[in-house]
Amino acid sequence: MSVIRLENVTKKYEGSMIFRDIYFRVMQGERIGLIGRNGAGKSTVFKLIMGKEEPTSGRVEINPQLKIGYFSQFSELSGSLSVQQELEMCFEQVALIERELLEVGDKLGLVTDNNEMERLLARQAELFEQMDHLDGWNVSVEINTVLTKLGFNDRSRNQPIDELSGGWRNRAALAKLLIELPDVVLLDEPTNYLDMEGIAWLEQWLYRFKGAMILVSHDRQFIDKVVTRTIEIENYHFQEYEGNYTDYDCVTTNEIIKQLFIN
Ligand SMILES: Nc1ncnc2c1ncn2[C@@H]1O[C@H](COP(=O)(O)OP(=O)(O)OP(=O)(O)O)[C@@H](O)[C@H]1O
Ligand SMILES: [Mg+2]
Repeated sequence: MSVIRLENVTKKYEGSMIFRDIYFRVMQGERIGLIGRNGAGKSTVFKLIMGKEEPTSGRVEINPQLKIGYFSQFSELSGSLSVQQELEMCFEQVALIERELLEVGDKLGLVTDNNEMERLLARQAELFEQMDHLDGWNVSVEINTVLTKLGFNDRSRNQPIDELSGGWRNRAALAKLLIELPDVVLLDEPTNYLDMEGIAWLEQWLYRFKGAMILVSHDRQFIDKVVTRTIEIENYHFQEYEGNYTDYDCVTTNEIIKQLFIN
């Protein structure tokens, strides 16, 4: 089943051609690397998919039931909440149940009346069941893992996001996208602010991700490790790139060397 379809799409900016007559399909579970020189139109593909830009002609069709997550080097969270609170808000219902479970636990430690104890135990059982149903037990572990792997320490994860530097607000946006677990992820240079450990962990995360993904990155090894298909934007067209991106770089380098000898 395809989740994204570009049918005969042409995109121009102010009369200047970016790409022409594109047919491009992304199937459920596909992880696509999108490559091309600076200005080839990679970010424009994301803007078309998200409806931020209209095609000059042709159709962009997105399965409306799917949740799309987008991240770029310009994505930043903002606000007075901490990143920890932002991520917890993604699981509002789980947080409410957790809070009530703590309250019930406290009351159970103090209660002397039998009827009241029975009532509290029944409520506790109900809340346990709701947590099971929401698969809520792992939420705090997941939030902790994402934040730790992206480099947040105790201080930075609890500081208001507005007080963080641009790089950290960018990482916070990535953390939120990963926690929200959309059906489709569009990633435009996601590794720019990450250290080696963060990159290695994101690689694993994307490798295990079951949804569809389009990834733009200058990091060849990163692309090679996570994608199932590579598409190159060249001469206004999308071309299936056979082989991996590291090969692409070798071919380009060989071409340059060849040209040097020919000239
Ligand atoms: N809103 C716009 N109006 C006019 N021209 C634009 C607009 N957005 C992008 N462009 C131009 O369209 C071309 C494609 O831009 P795009 O940002 O999609 O390229 P890219 O492949 O993402 O480049 P990079 O590798 O530098 O990120 C570029 O020449 C850019 O200057
Ligand atoms: Mg770009």
